[in-house]
Amino acid sequence: MTTAIVSAMHEELAAVLALMPDERMQVVGGREFWLGHLRGQPVVAVLSRIGKVAAATTATALIERFGVRRIVFTGVAGGLAPGVDVGHVVVADSFLQHDLDASPIFPKYQVPLYGLDRFAADPALGEQLAQAARSALPGVRLHRGLVVSGDRFVSTTGESRALQAALPQALAVEMEGAAFAQVCHDYGVPFAAVRTISDRADDAAHGDFTRFIREVASRYSGAIVEALLRP
Ligand code: ADE
Repeated sequence: MTTAIVSAMHEELAAVLALMPDERMQVVGGREFWLGHLRGQPVVAVLSRIGKVAAATTATALIERFGVRRIVFTGVAGGLAPGVDVGHVVVADSFLQHDLDASPIFPKYQVPLYGLDRFAADPALGEQLAQAARSALPGVRLHRGLVVSGDRFVSTTGESRALQAALPQALAVEMEGAAFAQVCHDYGVPFAAVRTISDRADDAAHGDFTRFIREVASRYSGAIVEALLRP
């Protein structure tokens, strides 16, 4: 059963690639897919690049061309809800596109013609990911809940507050998860995501994100993925 391991940026995936002893690279849709093993399990690792369209392309290629049986996203996110702070870890249980609004034809946030505004993570894979995060990063604060995605890097306190007011259940914001979740829903492929909080999506987000992605993101991703795939 091949597992896809995906991040948006190289800094988030470098430690995962370093754990693959036998990877070979194949280019599809302008992306490098790394096929090999991690802790003895078949894996395809890939950088999706940033944003919902890039995420949807990557998810489709993983399923159609590489036949992966489950997809795990690992990366960083901005904290939204109070108490979801830099260095904490969020395992999503559902995803919503915060920038989707086809009103008044459809209710705000609803994905047109699906009758849904959020897609669930696979419960079993989400639980495995949460357990992997707990064992890989003992003492780290772990949150589970709604993660929202949009084609915006949220980097002002004003926008962060507006998002929190509109979507009080949202724990964190990023730019890919809901797109992966929608494609995986379409194909019936289990999907789960773990995000380390790199910033608070506020006026300090730019600096915090840059520092965190350089110093911590890859290490956390590598440790969690290694624990997830440990036989
Ligand atoms: N990923 C990490 N931080 C983010 C932010 N503030 N907005 C969107 N995506 C992010």
